[in-house]
Amino acid sequence: MARVALMRFLLLVMACFFVTKAYDENLPPRTISVNNYHHEAMHRLKAFKASITRLDSIASPPSSLSPSSTPSPLPSQGQKKPRVYLVTSYGADPTGNSDSTEALLAAIADAANGPSEGFLIRGISDLGGAQIYLQGGNYTISKPLKLPVAGVGNLMIHGGTIRASENFPPDGYLIDLSTRGESKKSSTSSSYNYEFITLKDLLLDSNFRGGGISVINSLRTNIDNCYITHFATNGILVQSGHETYIRNSFLGQHITAGGDKEERNFSGTGIRLQGNDNAVTDVVIFSAAIGILVSGQANVFSGVHCYNKASSFGGTGIYLKLPGLTQTRIVNSYMDYTNIVAEDPVQLHISSSFFLGDANIVLKSIKGVVNGVSIVDNMFTGLNKGVEIVKLDESNSPFKQIDQVIVDRNIVKGMDLKATAAKKSINGNGTSWTLDFNKILLFPNLIKHVMYSFSSIGNTFPNHALRNVSENRVVIESNEAVTANVFVTVDQGIANSP
Ligand SMILES: *[C@@H]1O[C@H](CO)[C@@H](O)[C@H](O)[C@H]1NC(C)=O
Ligand SMILES: *[C@@H]1O[C@H](CO)[C@@H](O)[C@H](O)[C@H]1NC(C)=O
Ligand SMILES: *[C@@H]1O[C@H](CO)[C@@H](O)[C@H](O)[C@H]1NC(C)=O
Ligand SMILES: *[C@@H]1O[C@H](CO)[C@@H](O)[C@H](O)[C@H]1NC(C)=O
Repeated sequence: MARVALMRFLLLVMACFFVTKAYDENLPPRTISVNNYHHEAMHRLKAFKASITRLDSIASPPSSLSPSSTPSPLPSQGQKKPRVYLVTSYGADPTGNSDSTEALLAAIADAANGPSEGFLIRGISDLGGAQIYLQGGNYTISKPLKLPVAGVGNLMIHGGTIRASENFPPDGYLIDLSTRGESKKSSTSSSYNYEFITLKDLLLDSNFRGGGISVINSLRTNIDNCYITHFATNGILVQSGHETYIRNSFLGQHITAGGDKEERNFSGTGIRLQGNDNAVTDVVIFSAAIGILVSGQANVFSGVHCYNKASSFGGTGIYLKLPGLTQTRIVNSYMDYTNIVAEDPVQLHISSSFFLGDANIVLKSIKGVVNGVSIVDNMFTGLNKGVEIVKLDESNSPFKQIDQVIVDRNIVKGMDLKATAAKKSINGNGTSWTLDFNKILLFPNLIKHVMYSFSSIGNTFPNHALRNVSENRVVIESNEAVTANVFVTVDQGIANSP
């Protein structure tokens, strides 16, 4: 029933569309009422198209609706059509048997050179939401897909599978948002290549030749619901620009679900961020030597699950390679046998995350700086082999500049708890009470603050004092022998008050 009603509505809308078109051709141009009518009909058609694309249960093929089903679907300037470029209309082979490089590039070129409506950021022409639609096909390509011009935005490539052929260049990316020598579309040039390009609902198979997606010097790029596999270099590379949002995606060099016999040989990097202000949210990296390699600032990771290559086999989940200015937040993530390594971290926050299988956090000294680091409220589960939840790698140099480091309130099972704050109490009879915090404190010989309470029962009121704090040991003494309980809290992280 719903389908019949829909079809009727569809016919009605299409009738409006054709009537409008006929008016358009027959009447003098720029008649206001006609244009309004046209505009409204188009608006309804677009809305209707959007509604059927959303409703998966009503599997009416969008291609039958699209006005762009001729080999040259490029609407001329001023004619307002939805800009959906169907790649099969350009001769792309959806079976993957023959090479579709030129067909896909032609569709992309038409979209990128299509009508634009003003600008996004200055110098970036707004393509009005043009889409290159892969129609659920499987396409083989032998060259990276690049835009023919720089300076465009509001464009989407979506809905299908793209695979590298045997002769794809080993340093290429299947989708390459870079500009190397292309002309700019607009005369006003932007300092960014592209803005608001969306890559969505794609399976990208690099066939162990090159990488998946590269985003170079672009602004506000979406990578959403993509499955990127068989990369030899990087699944996704982001270089300069900002605000590339990588969401709801799966990346793995090998298609595996853990416990792979070949795991020791996994190579490549899932996501390499060489820029600032990006976000990776709800992303799984299931195979690669390094899950995410970061050398830019102010990036945020949330809901990331790394089981790319166990750290005991030499893998790393998230590697923060920006000694001296890290500015990274990792929250609500799952490090599954993979660790986080941070070089000379300055401003790093890790919280609400789960570390499984002896996965831990390694603070790696380059010049001995660790400043503004909080590692709090995480869960760690290990294999009872004495692995520390946070470990200092001082093989290059010891940490010398330590300030505002808070490692606290982590929940630990089967691993060694490390923290920058600790509490302990002892009972004793005598004049001296020594409490040793070396087992738990993260940094050697560093206690910035001590508080203690001294409770003794009996008839005397002894004098007592904190007498010695060194080598992470605290000594309390009294002037006469008594039986007392001494409770001490110590802190390595409190900054000196101004
Ligand atoms: C896609 O095309 C490739 C290359 O021809 C082929 O090996 C693969 O089996 C195809 N996959 C699907 C799902 O059609
Ligand atoms: C893994 O790599 C090593 C050396 O890099 C090689 O000797 C070994 O055969 C590889 N294992 C597999 C299963 O490919
Ligand atoms: C504490 O030590 C003194 C002598 O050193 C002894 O007389 C006293 O009984 C002890 N008290 C307790 C509770 O052990
Ligand atoms: C504090 O204790 C250390 C040994 O832990 C010792 O070397 C040092 O001399 C003591 N300092 C004082 C003031 O007693």
